[in-house]
Amino acid sequence: MKYKRILLKLSGEALAGEAGYGVTHDVLNQISEEVKDLVEMGVEVAIVVGGGNIHRGVAGATRGMDRTSSDHMGMLATVINALAMQDSLEQKGVFTRVMSAIDMQEICEPYIRRRAERHLEKKRVVIFAAGTGNPYFTTDTAAALRANEIDAQVIFKATKVDGIYDKDPMKYDDAVKFDQLKYIDVLNKGIKVMDSAAISLCMDNEMEIVVFNMFENGNIAKAVRGEAIGTKVIK
Ligand code: GTP
Repeated sequence: MKYKRILLKLSGEALAGEAGYGVTHDVLNQISEEVKDLVEMGVEVAIVVGGGNIHRGVAGATRGMDRTSSDHMGMLATVINALAMQDSLEQKGVFTRVMSAIDMQEICEPYIRRRAERHLEKKRVVIFAAGTGNPYFTTDTAAALRANEIDAQVIFKATKVDGIYDKDPMKYDDAVKFDQLKYIDVLNKGIKVMDSAAISLCMDNEMEIVVFNMFENGNIAKAVRGEAIGTKVIK
């Protein structure tokens, strides 16, 4: 295995599946099967979930809502997704802990770094909720931050496409896939795989990012073994 401790970034949209909103049982089921396989392989797994399937902070703000309030709603949305993910994993017998960046102790644990690491050492899947706890920061930035804090070796960014393309492969037939990209090229070319704050944080700390389609069975296990799938973002 190439990676022992990983951070899996799941977008809210990924959880929504075909419906495009809310949480789809089948998708949750599939993701938790894959995560279960990882845990059985001995990989320590942390997850950051987005909330875009329920509320997008930026979209709310563009419709005239106060950005901070809108982002707060987005953070709460990630807690809903984290609880759904936790439930799905625990139904499969995977031990999990949800840790929130915003205190809501009746619902989940507060985020305490050393405690998160202890959970991971005990092979519990740690799901980080509520982003970074701050407005104006995306859940991709939360993923970059937490991955660095817990000393993960890589961020797996799960998407619906099989890597990073020079243009949207859903719209353009001639879109070309990159096997490997430098952080600086992602920034310079304005490639929208993660926002610039998240990419910069990864670049400054040499946190590897692998972008791949996690809805293809077994992809995540391949990624953990270091097989060339999707697109790798490196120094
Ligand atoms: P160890 O100390 O390694 O045994 O970890 P642990 O998480 O099992 O210990 P603890 O006794 O702290 O937690 C037991 C259960 O309570 C776990 O399911 C935790 O997720 C949960 N828990 C712990 N702290 C909180 C909290 O602040 N809020 C909520 N809602 N649950 C918590």
